[in-house]
Amino acid sequence: MPITEPVLTRRIPTPPWGDPKDRHLVSYEEYVKTGGYQMLEKALDMEPARIVDTVKDSQLRGRGGAGFPCGLKWTFLPPPDGGRRYLTVNCDEAEPCTFKDRLLVDFDPHLILEGVAITCYACQLDTAYFFIRGEYREQAKTMNAAIQEAYDNGIFGPQGLMKGKSDFKVDCFLHRGAGAYVCGEETGLLEAVEGKRGWPRVKPPFPAVEGLFRRPTIVNNVETIACVGPIVANGADWFKNMGCESSVGGPPSYGPKLMGVSGHVNNPGVFELDLGIPLSRLVNEHAGGMRSGKAFKGSIAGGVSMGVLGPDQFDAELDFDIGTKYDMLGLGTACPTILDEDTDMVAVARNIVRFFKNESCGQCTPCREGSQWAYKLLCRIEKGEATTRHLDLLLEVGSSMGIMPGTTICGLADGTNWAIKTIVNKFRADFEVRVKPHFVPVTVTS
Ligand SMILES: Cc1cc2nc3c(=O)[nH]c(=O)nc-3n(C[C@H](O)[C@H](O)[C@H](O)COP(=O)(O)O)c2cc1C
Ligand code: SF4
Repeated sequence: MPITEPVLTRRIPTPPWGDPKDRHLVSYEEYVKTGGYQMLEKALDMEPARIVDTVKDSQLRGRGGAGFPCGLKWTFLPPPDGGRRYLTVNCDEAEPCTFKDRLLVDFDPHLILEGVAITCYACQLDTAYFFIRGEYREQAKTMNAAIQEAYDNGIFGPQGLMKGKSDFKVDCFLHRGAGAYVCGEETGLLEAVEGKRGWPRVKPPFPAVEGLFRRPTIVNNVETIACVGPIVANGADWFKNMGCESSVGGPPSYGPKLMGVSGHVNNPGVFELDLGIPLSRLVNEHAGGMRSGKAFKGSIAGGVSMGVLGPDQFDAELDFDIGTKYDMLGLGTACPTILDEDTDMVAVARNIVRFFKNESCGQCTPCREGSQWAYKLLCRIEKGEATTRHLDLLLEVGSSMGIMPGTTICGLADGTNWAIKTIVNKFRADFEVRVKPHFVPVTVTS
């Protein structure tokens, strides 16, 4: 069954239900008047373990990129031992072309904070950090003001959640990043919150067992946390009525999803839709169609690290099966960037790899050196100074880096690899016209 009313954008006018011109920041008072913090009230009447079960039953999958089941992650926490336990909300949102979490922060920050309070209660986490990328200056101010409002109104603080309705006390702090993409990776984020250089950690141990300050920690994306309140209020079955089943026998893709569309379309923006909507429908029905009536050439489907969809994949369903079905790394953030027929895919690849090379933290040789070499090769190909041998070498360098080939600490390098291989494989003709045949010297023997 398709989504029939906005869930996460209930207070944020968004097409087809509302006009973005009517958007405004929802204050604490307005939030409460429109039903806000009733989801927390209901949650506090439940046993924490029942909330975890409800979120697990809903099969909510993480909205930060990997699609890991949220409730299952929560169950990895060890039982409370009297020491500190943390929630860190990931609002790094540095994936190029991704701007969905910002919509919630800009207009409805209390929806996120209500999710924070419920998650902390459910998982018995006493301290929450809201990690926000350095570039989101205005959003950091908005979020800080909302956290203050939540304290002023007794949601957080020493009296216990919701003016002491529960004895369980939660503190919430905002932490600003300093502008590195790798700090979105959950353990890079933890290092950054600890005040260190944002270098991803070797796993295991995973954060649920040993996270922030080496204590049990849950890391969730902003949108994932925003889904928690509505699930608790309406039940797991309600959530499972939205989205779609897997068509490849994998786990389902339930719930609504924020999808930010950018690139060569007439009406870029963020839309709240069912998981599983075909990309062509998203573009034609919601984003105003292709700009200047040009033909679709391809799409970065969910952040550049997931790879690209090719010219014959315009009807690809945007759900968590996309990796298996369309030869991509995954759905990522579900924020597609549409590319029209005039796009130079060699330049796209060069630009993406330039980004990854600049953002590599440098700990792993295949990522640090590989991305540099891939960038140099792409520059040569773009200038027409390369041969077919260089094209093969580019794919070889790409496939040698990442968690998947087992050569790096974090997934940033897999992103580099998937961007390279999907662009070269799906747009090979764009590359072949730029490279000369490889000259193999012939040795003449008498
Ligand atoms: C290089 C890199 C960057 C990432 N950036 C983000 C990000 O900006 N926001 C986010 O929520 N997750 C990001 N992730 C995924 C996180 O590591 C983690 O899986 C996620 O925050 C977990 O939340 P979720 O389960 O709610 O999706 C990134 C991962 C990698 C490897
Ligand atoms: S893969 Fe790259 S970004 Fe990730 S830890 Fe290694 S060097 Fe750093």
